[in-house]
Amino acid sequence: MLLVKVGYGIVYRGVLGDGTKVAVKNLLNNRGQAEREFKVEVEVIGRVRHKNLVRLLGYCVEGAYRMLVYEYVDNGNLDQWLHGDVGEVSPLTWDIRRNIILGTAKGLAYLHDGLEPKVVHRDVKSSNILLDRQWNSKVSDFGLAKLLHSERSYVTTRVMGTFGYVAPEYACTGMLNEKSDVYSFGILIMEIISGRSPVDYSRPQGEVNLVEWLKTMVGNRKSEEVVDPKLPEMPASKALKRALLVALKCVDPDATKRPKMGHVIHMLEADDLLFRDERRVGREPSHSQHDYELENHAATKLVHKQSGEGTSDTSEGESGRKNHQSTRWR
Ligand SMILES: Nc1ncnc2c1ncn2[C@@H]1O[C@H](COP(=O)(O)OP(=O)(O)OP(=O)(O)O)[C@@H](O)[C@H]1O
Ligand SMILES: [Mg+2]
Repeated sequence: MLLVKVGYGIVYRGVLGDGTKVAVKNLLNNRGQAEREFKVEVEVIGRVRHKNLVRLLGYCVEGAYRMLVYEYVDNGNLDQWLHGDVGEVSPLTWDIRRNIILGTAKGLAYLHDGLEPKVVHRDVKSSNILLDRQWNSKVSDFGLAKLLHSERSYVTTRVMGTFGYVAPEYACTGMLNEKSDVYSFGILIMEIISGRSPVDYSRPQGEVNLVEWLKTMVGNRKSEEVVDPKLPEMPASKALKRALLVALKCVDPDATKRPKMGHVIHMLEADDLLFRDERRVGREPSHSQHDYELENHAATKLVHKQSGEGTSDTSEGESGRKNHQSTRWR
């Protein structure tokens, strides 16, 4: 049965002889991909096992055909749940969203630090985050951009096609490494918190670009206002601020200042322990004014620092960087 035709190829749903449900991806535009090179790459991907990564079960190489057989993940992708027609109230509660963020971080950390050679995803975005019935996140399509690398222009178009997630240095160097994944992950956190797409031309000017808008909001101490209006309950203020802080660190324009995924997990889990009891139903803040100021201050300070305000360690002023970035983003 045909599932969907987008991006890298056509995805079919299938059932194996033993009843296992699978997703079969027929890769398009693979001309030039040598058979041996393809097999080597696929075998690396096929060895990867992690509960937050979609498992590759097999592949097929025949003439010009290249197919990949994945475990079937049966609850759609995150893009559909965030931006699709889900009604007034999203089924994705704050806890579920936090869990999706954490699970995705764990999957990526494993790709970056748990494997030799390391695997860089290169296309982290909400449609590549699949969900099971318990809302566990499963990262799909890792290693695929590399697999298709011989089709250079194709890959370039593909990556630029999801440019709302692409790290700024990519535009300059064309190089993607794990810090570019961290950047895309930061965008993903912002998308999960706000329910907004990374680039949305239907928004008023100043809100089209999610990072820019969110930085402005946090910089103006309006963090509570970035939360997805479809969220059934407001998160505890500290938990929200922490998640925003992590997201902002991940999208640091300077790739060397972005945290590693392991550190991201650490920051998110520390948040979990500290603030678990502070979750609130209802939209009133549950914190003291002092705590609020502290958490808010950290994120606000970071925004100002990243944009070069009031710091001497950067040669580029805010307007310079903003112009530079908008050329790349739009
Ligand atoms: N293993 C899977 N189990 C269930 N559904 C899947 C699986 N893999 C892909 N799909 C579905 O097929 C859709 C299309 O997948 P595909 O990866 O081709 O496109 P995409 O994620 O939108 O873009 P990209 O090509 O950049 O990854 C996914 O978004 C998902 O809904
Ligand atoms: Mg995909």
